[in-house]
Amino acid sequence: MSLLVGDIGELVTNDPELGVLTDAAVVVEGDRIAWVGAMRDAPAADERLDAGGAAVIPGFVDSHAHLVFAGDRAGEFAARMNGEPYTGGGIRTTVAATRAANDDTLRAGARRLVGEARRQGTTTIEIKSGYGLSVEDEARCLRIARELSDETTFLGAHVVPAEFAGDPDGYVRLVCGQMLAAAAPYAKWIDVFCDRGAFDGDQAREILTAGAAAGLIPRLHANQLGPGPGVRLAVELGAASADHCTHLSDADVDALAGSPTVATLLPGAEFSTRSPYPDARRLLDAGVTVALATDCNPGSSYTSSMAFCLALAVREMRMTPAEALWAATAGGARALRRDDIGVLRPGARADLAVLDAPSYLHLAYRPGVPLVTTVLHNGVPQ
Ligand code: NIG
Ligand code: FE
Repeated sequence: MSLLVGDIGELVTNDPELGVLTDAAVVVEGDRIAWVGAMRDAPAADERLDAGGAAVIPGFVDSHAHLVFAGDRAGEFAARMNGEPYTGGGIRTTVAATRAANDDTLRAGARRLVGEARRQGTTTIEIKSGYGLSVEDEARCLRIARELSDETTFLGAHVVPAEFAGDPDGYVRLVCGQMLAAAAPYAKWIDVFCDRGAFDGDQAREILTAGAAAGLIPRLHANQLGPGPGVRLAVELGAASADHCTHLSDADVDALAGSPTVATLLPGAEFSTRSPYPDARRLLDAGVTVALATDCNPGSSYTSSMAFCLALAVREMRMTPAEALWAATAGGARALRRDDIGVLRPGARADLAVLDAPSYLHLAYRPGVPLVTTVLHNGVPQ
């Protein structure tokens, strides 16, 4: 079955050869893109979806989200808006609620967020564990995550849970041993929150190395709450991505610039914690590959909207609208080491979003407005 998406006023392909096309069309065969070009040259197809002159973009690739949890922390957010700092201490509140919830509750919550994201144009979403922090609870959170995404991440090293408060080294041993063994069948990636109040550089190295030996690929929460070794460790270990990158030294930027590690910026977290935004311009000007993601979680960034994060990146981080859209699509794909998503060219996955706007510029120009009208995921209108 083939589908022609026609009468596209502006088509952002993210393909260096194709660029941004006007009066364009896309032909989809099954779950893949078969053809991209000018509307007047479009081949016939079995079905037709008319974009009515609107803009079409690759589906957003949200490469950093924490979706398996119970409860919320709206009160903590309100206190922060009133001046309380964000320390990550609230993670333990969500751990207690998550452990107490049954599978159906956790599944329903994660499914709701995936659906919410999908309606807003997100066609790939990475999902981390990290609110179970016991062997059984991490494994079940990842099992549920795996039902919803192939991009799943074991984050047993989110914080040291309360019952190990007096024995953090014992917890690191548990993460590297039994917990990793139970989680690995459901995960592609391994992540550590390497920051003050969580895990230090040596602990993070030990955990990521054990994960890599079990076949998981490292990524890292790094330099969110303060300066530290996280970003340089990510580069040293060949991690796919260093995420947050809020507090960077020149050495951190140089290390990223000379490496394939992506800097994933999460401005929803700075918005919701009243922290300074990361310096995207410094990274881009140094030649670092930048991705944008939501960090969707109940503590530091309870948004599933990639468009909102893109608008923040443009307004608060001085990214151009073109850089921000690339980072939210192709950049996310790089952070997940995928070349079949985040781009609209023959052979790529048929994941795209039609906007109720003549240009992608409206994503940042009209913040907070739900501009995504139709989403194609694996070639199927959602
Ligand atoms: O990426 N910083 C660590 N983890 C999450 C926040 C988790 C939470 O506060 O519940 C983050 O911001
Ligand atoms: Fe996160």
